[in-house]
Amino acid sequence: MGKTRKIVIDTDPGQDDAVAILLALASPELDVLGITAVAGNVPLPLTELNARKICELAGRPDIRVFAGASRPMVRDLVTAEHVHGKTGLDGPDLPEPEMMLMGEHAVDFIIDTLMKHDEGEVTLCTLGPLTNVALALVREPKIAPRVREIVMMGGGFFEGGNVTPTAEFNIYVDPHAADVVFRSGVPIVMMPLDVTHKALTTADRIAGFRNLGTRVALATAKMLEYFERFDEEKYGIDGGPLHDPCVIAYLLEPHLFSGRECNVSVETASELTMGMTVIDWWRVTEKPKNALVMREIDHDRFFELLVERIAAL
Ligand code: RIB
Ligand code: CA
Repeated sequence: MGKTRKIVIDTDPGQDDAVAILLALASPELDVLGITAVAGNVPLPLTELNARKICELAGRPDIRVFAGASRPMVRDLVTAEHVHGKTGLDGPDLPEPEMMLMGEHAVDFIIDTLMKHDEGEVTLCTLGPLTNVALALVREPKIAPRVREIVMMGGGFFEGGNVTPTAEFNIYVDPHAADVVFRSGVPIVMMPLDVTHKALTTADRIAGFRNLGTRVALATAKMLEYFERFDEEKYGIDGGPLHDPCVIAYLLEPHLFSGRECNVSVETASELTMGMTVIDWWRVTEKPKNALVMREIDHDRFFELLVERIAAL
């Protein structure tokens, strides 16, 4: 095994976050230095609790989980219980965790971790609103050149939005945080709806998890069955988009994805298009190319990878 890749996962679990965390914990190529919870799909007390439930489901009570921002930087918190259920992790019945939440604030953990590791050694994987990462960048600008890259699920352009006609949830919840991150100069790999909507949890693919028969795989199937129903109704398709695991899959098999370096700017003024990620895909401006924006995915291999790895937990 070559050198493991050190990552911090910032997340608002959420069933798709949960599958992303399981994929990371099942992959020996990755060294999860810590998981930082942020308010998003559900309020912070639930996202941090869910992160601990998922670590214990994976048999990893050793993983350090930190609580971060309980609300966006400027706007009021908007949550998504209608998608993820009241607990944020509806579907399987997971036991209350025994592992403790760490005492350090997530933003301090992100700063401390980046300052004590070598430059370019730590990757930030963001699966929710970018509040924690933006606060860390504002609190300690010295961390920006130290981040290897930020691999994020967020935004959308050709696909439009999933919360408003123009905005995707993670960016919409905290557009000001997203603006800080996209202007930070940190290398960004972006998984927008344009690519995640091509990774659909069809019935066959969910059966692929269920047929493994393990505790983790059965819980995963139940999470996906619950999570997909909202998007199936909304889009009238078989299966829902499996957003967040795209971030971790990119670290494991980057060739599954393709896209291009573009400028991405975030709307933070207009209520009509608040949180829109304006992606200059055709490069009609001279704005800096601040993100590698993914648009294509080998979705068959993506789900094969997920089943392979989750089978190992
Ligand atoms: O828009 C999809 C994103 O919002 C995913 O990260 C999902 O978990 C929610 O946070
Ligand atoms: Ca999420």
